[in-house]
Amino acid sequence: MQGQLDMEGALTARDRVGIQDFVLLDETTEVAFLSNLKKRFSNDLIYTYIGTLLVSVNPYKELDIYNKKQMELYMGINFFELPPHIYALADNAYQTMLTEFNNHFILISGESGAGKTEASKKILQYYAVSCPSTTLLNTVRDKMLMSNPVLEAFGNAKTLKNDNSSRFGKYMDIQFDSQGDAVGGHILNYLLEKSRVVHQNHGERNFHIFYQIVEGGEENLLHQLGLERDVQHYNYLTQGECAIVSSINDRNDWKTVKNALQIINIDEINTNHLFGIVASVLHLGNVQFDSDSKGHALLNNNAELRWVSNLLGVDAHGLQEGLTYRKIEARKDQILSPFTVDHAIYARDALAKAIYGQTFTWLVSRINQSMENKDTSRKTVIGLLDIYGFEVFYVNSFEQFCINYCNEKLQQLFIQLTLKAEQEEYEAEDIEWEPVQFFNNKIICDLVEEKHRGIISILDEECLRPGDATDLTFLERLEEKMGNHPHFVTHKLADKMTRKTLERGDFRLLHYAGEVTYCVVGFLDKNNDLLYRNIKDLISQSKNAIVRECFSTVDSDSRRRPETVATQFKSSLLKLTEILMAKEAWYIRCLKSNESKQPGQFDEALIRHQVKYLGLMEHLRVRRAGFAYRRKYEVFLKRYKPLCPATWPHWRGVPADGVEVLVQHLGYLPNEYKMGRTKIFIRHPRTLYATEDAFEKCKHELATRLQAKYKGYRAKGEFKKQKEAATKIETCWRGVQARKERERRAWAVKVIKKFIKGYMERGQAKSTDNSEYLAFVRQSYLNRLKANLPKSVLDKTTWLSPPVVLTETSEILRKLHYRLMVRKYVRGITPQKKAQLQLKLITSSIFKGKKDSYPQSVAQPFVDTRISEQDINMRVLQMIRNEHIKYSVPVIKYDRNGFKPRPRQLILTQTAAYVIEEAKIKERVLYTSLKGISVSNLTDGIIVFHMTCEDPKQKGDLVMRCDHLFEFLTKLSVIANKQNAIKVVQGSIKIEIQAGKESAVDFSAGQEPMVYKAKNGHLMVVATRARTR
Ligand SMILES: Nc1ncnc2c1ncn2[C@@H]1O[C@H](COP(=O)(O)OP(=O)(O)OP(=O)(O)O)[C@@H](O)[C@H]1O
Ligand SMILES: [Mg+2]
Repeated sequence: MQGQLDMEGALTARDRVGIQDFVLLDETTEVAFLSNLKKRFSNDLIYTYIGTLLVSVNPYKELDIYNKKQMELYMGINFFELPPHIYALADNAYQTMLTEFNNHFILISGESGAGKTEASKKILQYYAVSCPSTTLLNTVRDKMLMSNPVLEAFGNAKTLKNDNSSRFGKYMDIQFDSQGDAVGGHILNYLLEKSRVVHQNHGERNFHIFYQIVEGGEENLLHQLGLERDVQHYNYLTQGECAIVSSINDRNDWKTVKNALQIINIDEINTNHLFGIVASVLHLGNVQFDSDSKGHALLNNNAELRWVSNLLGVDAHGLQEGLTYRKIEARKDQILSPFTVDHAIYARDALAKAIYGQTFTWLVSRINQSMENKDTSRKTVIGLLDIYGFEVFYVNSFEQFCINYCNEKLQQLFIQLTLKAEQEEYEAEDIEWEPVQFFNNKIICDLVEEKHRGIISILDEECLRPGDATDLTFLERLEEKMGNHPHFVTHKLADKMTRKTLERGDFRLLHYAGEVTYCVVGFLDKNNDLLYRNIKDLISQSKNAIVRECFSTVDSDSRRRPETVATQFKSSLLKLTEILMAKEAWYIRCLKSNESKQPGQFDEALIRHQVKYLGLMEHLRVRRAGFAYRRKYEVFLKRYKPLCPATWPHWRGVPADGVEVLVQHLGYLPNEYKMGRTKIFIRHPRTLYATEDAFEKCKHELATRLQAKYKGYRAKGEFKKQKEAATKIETCWRGVQARKERERRAWAVKVIKKFIKGYMERGQAKSTDNSEYLAFVRQSYLNRLKANLPKSVLDKTTWLSPPVVLTETSEILRKLHYRLMVRKYVRGITPQKKAQLQLKLITSSIFKGKKDSYPQSVAQPFVDTRISEQDINMRVLQMIRNEHIKYSVPVIKYDRNGFKPRPRQLILTQTAAYVIEEAKIKERVLYTSLKGISVSNLTDGIIVFHMTCEDPKQKGDLVMRCDHLFEFLTKLSVIANKQNAIKVVQGSIKIEIQAGKESAVDFSAGQEPMVYKAKNGHLMVVATRARTR
């Protein structure tokens, strides 16, 4: 085998349960082998390697090692890196096929019930999941997967050894394209055990499909097929007396099979034909014969017969005749010769076997059609060989002979291939090796198949020989020919001891797997497998398309004898051997853990026996052939070069020399290894263990060193990365900022432009262009105005001048604001103040704009009086009190004669004004006689009372000066109601000193205020000029 012996992974894993690869066992004894197997089995580790060969022990229980997760674990992984598994082998074969682009096959062997079929299904499932898939490929994949339940229903049966025993051989090619896609499949089937259709040993069943249809078939289907839902009703189902078994769920299986038939493209019509055939076999089994007086078979036209003719679409009468008569051709005549009852039963069974057997072949070909890949591009294949296992029953017949012969052939193939590969390896590498002693079963194969001399040839001869050849004459012929053969014995040939264990009709073969005693009864018939001519003609006309298809092609030349069954089988095995020899082989050796199909039972004797006959020990020895380990120089050097300073870290020369240097450094002794052409061969595992241990140690040291370096490198890298990241972020951030700034500026330009345009169009009607500007102007004006409002009513200057658009508004606001201030002011003034203001108003109406000192007086408040009552003489008070004193003010009175100034008190009462000097009332001026009052327009305080003066004795006009001119005159005008009597005069005031005697007061403006009598006799008043405000 080409597969690499990659043990390093297994070496590191050797401390796990047992040893994963028997090659690494220290001693190659059977005891060590079994103990390792047992140790692993008791830990549910059912798989162990011998190199790349997989040993599998049937656990008889579901293990959680076949799930998708497990499959994924093994995909593309190095064979020895994970614990042994069937997936590892499947994957390794697949990967090798892909890389080397060649064909492979997986030979699954082991006795009946050892787990071959299960193994082949696991492999198929693995490929279904692990290979690349497309919708198209999925249908191919489904067909491959679904071919199993169909073929198992028709080709498997419960035997004493196995509840699902394969009763046919199956070789399935899975075709892959160069991409590794599973693109098609093809099945070759080998010799179905047809005798089971009509006969089953005790404890065994017919093929599953019969039970499935009766148990699971729908009511209308059963009705259509004339079947009853009762397996006990059918002779062909009840001979083993175990039609119903708890371990088999026929009803569920029926559903699976029906579904599978659809997937493999068997249409409804053909499905009906198929079920028709299955039912017709059941009906045939129930056809019974009577015998007439001469012992000839009689068959009445009964219901079962009608059902058979109906379902097979053949004439009922013809069928009846065919089952009870034989047609003999004598020259040109045809003679019907009646059967005995036994003969009729034989003919009936032969028919049942023939149609079932042919239908099975038809089924395989239909499956092949559905899986076929028509693309002609080159493909590689992986073949899966799952054949019935070696079996020994209490009674063994022709079928067991064929089955065991087949297993013998496969064992031979195994020996040839493993030895051949090993031999070739040593030769190619130019290594001397000592041949390993093993049992070569070629001698048994020859005994069975040798031309002219083998058992099959003798059997054929007996079958073909004219005359009365019987099973017993066949046995005699065997005894004659095989007389001394060490692997052949019969009752007659045996020694005394052995003879006791043999019947007269038996012969015994010493197979590689053990002794099997065959009973010759039936050998000739089964080998001839003849179907009577008239029956064959009849069913070749069948209206059931499947039957017609099957029998129209079969052996159309009636004169030529068909090849016997054994010979056919022999040549099909020969062909199979050729097919397999052209491919690379992978092996799975299945072991049965116990006979009772129980989980957890490790039947040591049974397993030792299998280990022995499967040649596992020999295989192990051959595998080691003195050299447990071999490796290509490059690979060996690559792994172990750290162990030697000369080879680490690089060996620059030829790898072989490097390896030599390396092993010298390690201290290998000359007899511990050999150098081949391309590989190093190491004799004992312990040498390798020591090397591997050293490597492990060194690996740790190396790892620490590497780790430290790596950490430093990482830290540096990390720093650099962070720095780069920071720069990047910075750049990005700057970019963001710049973009923001640009946007801001663009916005500003837009706003400013709009602003300017708005400004330019500010006087125009509101438009989109200026509306914003105007809004802004308004708002800004109002804001500014708010902060700069005049605080007092008198403040007329503070008002902000408005923009054009707000002229009107501003005016309204201004008025509003003033009104508001006035209101506030008004609300804030007292009644006294109000009275005073009312007086001031009178003052204003009289003097405003007329007298120069008026403006200055406005701000000076009026008082109630300028002289309090205490300051007025008591006598005066007494005299005038009853007139109510309203106001008093000091004045300067100018004499009428000479204008001499005299300080006086002037008291206003309700009716008159009194001029008082101390206690004297100098003058009483009745308001009624006061005809006018004059003042100048200048700033002086001169007041002239004009008196009605008719009597010359009466005093004339009164001239005074008062500092509180406005206050005094206002009060007077109110008290005496004299507003209109007051005149403001410019230049001079004429006065009457006495009746008829006039003078004047002249006014002028000057620097100093002065009052004096002028030369003209007038009173001259000089007033200072008014200060302008
Ligand atoms: N890997 C496994 N895990 C669990 N059970 C298993 C496994 N392999 C086999 N078995 C059990 O053993 C039974 C027999 O296995 P299988 O049908 O594969 O045997 P076989 O070698 O094909 O026998 P035959 O030669 O009679 O066809 C299965 O039905 C199943 O119950
Ligand atoms: Mg099987």
